[in-house]
This record gives sequence, C-alpha cells and structure tokens, in this order.
Amino acid sequence: MAMPDRDAVLTALRTVLEQDARKDIVSLGLVKELTLADGRVAFTIELTAHAYPAKDQLRDQAAAAVRALGVADVDVRLTVNVRSASAPEKGGPPLPGVKNVIAVGAGKGGVGKTTVAVNLAIALAKCGSRVGIIDGDIYGPNVPIMLGISTQLTTDGKKILPAEKHGLQVISMGFMTSDDAPVIWRGPMLHGAIQQFFREVRWDSLDYLIVDMPPGTGDVALSLSQTVPVAGSIVVTTPQQVSLADSRRAIRMYQKLNIPTLGIVENMSHFVCPSCSHEADIFGHGGGQKMADDMNVTFLGRVPIYQPIREGSDNGVPLVLSEPESPAAKAFIATAERVAAEISIASYKRAPIPLTPIS
Ligand SMILES: Nc1ncnc2c1ncn2[C@@H]1O[C@H](COP(=O)(O)OP(=O)(O)OP(=O)(O)O)[C@@H](O)[C@H]1O
Ligand SMILES: [Mg+2]
Repeated sequence: MAMPDRDAVLTALRTVLEQDARKDIVSLGLVKELTLADGRVAFTIELTAHAYPAKDQLRDQAAAAVRALGVADVDVRLTVNVRSASAPEKGGPPLPGVKNVIAVGAGKGGVGKTTVAVNLAIALAKCGSRVGIIDGDIYGPNVPIMLGISTQLTTDGKKILPAEKHGLQVISMGFMTSDDAPVIWRGPMLHGAIQQFFREVRWDSLDYLIVDMPPGTGDVALSLSQTVPVAGSIVVTTPQQVSLADSRRAIRMYQKLNIPTLGIVENMSHFVCPSCSHEADIFGHGGGQKMADDMNVTFLGRVPIYQPIREGSDNGVPLVLSEPESPAAKAFIATAERVAAEISIASYKRAPIPLTPIS
C-alpha cells in the first residue's frame, strides 16, 4: 500500500476522541511534530494533564488509527503541557510562574478544606505536575502543620521564595511570624497579604497553584478574585443537609465573583470500619452528588472518613504519601485526576482551537 500523505494521517487522527473534551485530538491541537518519512509516521500527542489515566489508551488508539492506513511503523510519543484555563481579563494580568490558580473553599469551617487541598496538591504533584499551595487562612494557618513544615521565609533580594516540601511550593502566614519576618508582613491587612502571597512570591513554573481558603465566605475570596485570574473553585462539603446548604451559598458566592466552579468534593462521605470493612453513611448518602446535579456543577469525588487522614494532618505526612494504596488515598488521587480534567476542559473552551495544530 502507498504511504498516506499528511492530510490522510490527520484525517485518520480526527477519529480519535479525547475522552474529557469529547473532541478529536487534532481539533484540540494535541497532535504535534508530525513527520512522515521512509515508511514511518511519527508524531507527539501533547496531553494537557499529567494526571491523565487514559494516556496509554489514547496513544494506542492514535497508533491504531494510523496503522489502519497501512503504515506498519508508527511512533507515538506522549508529552504533557498543562494549559491555562483562566481568562485573564476576568482578574487582571496573569500571574507570573503560574498557569492555573485553584481555590479550595467551603461554606463553613471544619469540613476538611485544608485536608482536601493538601492531599489534592500532593496527588497532582505525584503525577508529575508542578504544584504550589497558598495557605489563604491568614489568621489560622494550618497548611504548615499538615505538611510538616516549620521554616521562616527567605528572599532572593527581590521576591519571597516559597518553602518546598513533599514536592510542593508553599506559602503560609505561619512562616512569617518571627521578629525576622520581612517588614512588609508587619501589620498586614488581609487584602494586602493575599496580594503579596501571589505577586511578591517567586512561584516557579507552576501548573497548578492551590489556594486553601479560610472558613466562611467573603473577604479572602473577594481579594482573590480581585488579585489574580482564578481558573476555578473546588467546594468541599460533607453530606449532611446543613453543610450542603452552606456549600450552595459558597458556590453562588464564587459564581458572583466570576470564579467558575470546577466542582464539588464530598468529604467524610462515609465511614469504613477498619475491622470489618462495613460502610456506614454517618452523615447521609449521596447529598454531594445530588447538590452537584441540582446546581449543574461537576461532582469531583468523595473521600471517606478515615482515621489516618486525621493522623496524617497532625503529623505532617498527608495520607496520599503515607498510605498511597489505601482506598481513601485512591479517592484523593481520583479526585485530583478529575480536577485536572476539568482544568483541561476549561482550557480547551478558553483557547481558540488552532487551525494549524501541527508544528
Ligand atoms: N476524610 C477525613 N477523615 C478523617 N479526618 C478528617 C477527614 N477530613 C478532615 N479530617 C480531619 O478533620 C479536621 C478538620 O479538617 P480541616 O482542618 O481540613 O478542615 P477545614 O475545613 O480546613 O477547617 P477550617 O475551616 O478550620 O479551616 C482535621 O483534624 C482533619 O484531620
Ligand atoms: Mg482549613
């Protein structure tokens, strides 16, 4: 059979659908560096998330589509380039060194925002993404404890350098409490502090910057929306009715601030008995999913109540690191994959789809 030409290869690749966007990989601009030479077709698929469980499937489908043209020698490489999902015009200029800012919030305190933020951040980093976390709780910073960091910030003379732990770049007010703290942190006003967390810190090539929001709705979210373009918010809820009502308010607040909702995470959704594996729905069942359906937002996942999650929060080694094979850690990892997928989908919607995607 004669060697197909470039157009024939591209037409074949247009039959391969990316599962999250449900669009073909050529239209999404994922096919790069296509070469045809000496009976061989080679190209790169540029994925938009490291946390992408279907990558082998996508590569195999693409290879099979080209082989079906009669090409025996097909070389498909996979690379990852996380795209920015935020619309800069909605929140000022883009943030240097950061592609996607993601707020993790809730309508009320104690539902597990910080726990979810920290474990999601680590799950994304373990997949190979570059991830940072901002402790948005100015008055009650918990991130340093949950990540086991005690440090004072340093600067490079111009900007503040984030702390590094478990593969994450981290900023928290908890790092700025000694007498040695830079003068800019004395008597900080909330809005100024939030702005400095973003603009005065040297964030280094982050795919995702997670912001652990303080309890309640309001000031910090407002500051956030005025300071940077935010790719989206994750709202953490527990399944019981009171928390669900608060979460609805949180979602509406983010929407009012023009911050899109990436979805809902249901935390402490059920209890798995460690001795008999019996599952008990202590706070009711299916509330988060139902709320997501009602409000037309994505349900990102559910995380069980599991004592080692609490222990990991207290001793500075989050569950995704301490027990990566546990069902609860797998729930965080699956949720992180869903979050990455939502960012990809939003980025496809934002970017004009390139007409000539082949470089
Ligand atoms: N799925 C879970 N299983 C067991 N313990 C959990 C779980 N999620 C959170 N916790 C524990 O519940 C407590 C509250 O969690 P966390 O501090 O993350 O909540 P928060 O919403 O950030 O609270 P705040 O509103 O005070 O910032 C912590 O002790 C944490 O370890
Ligand atoms: Mg918290």
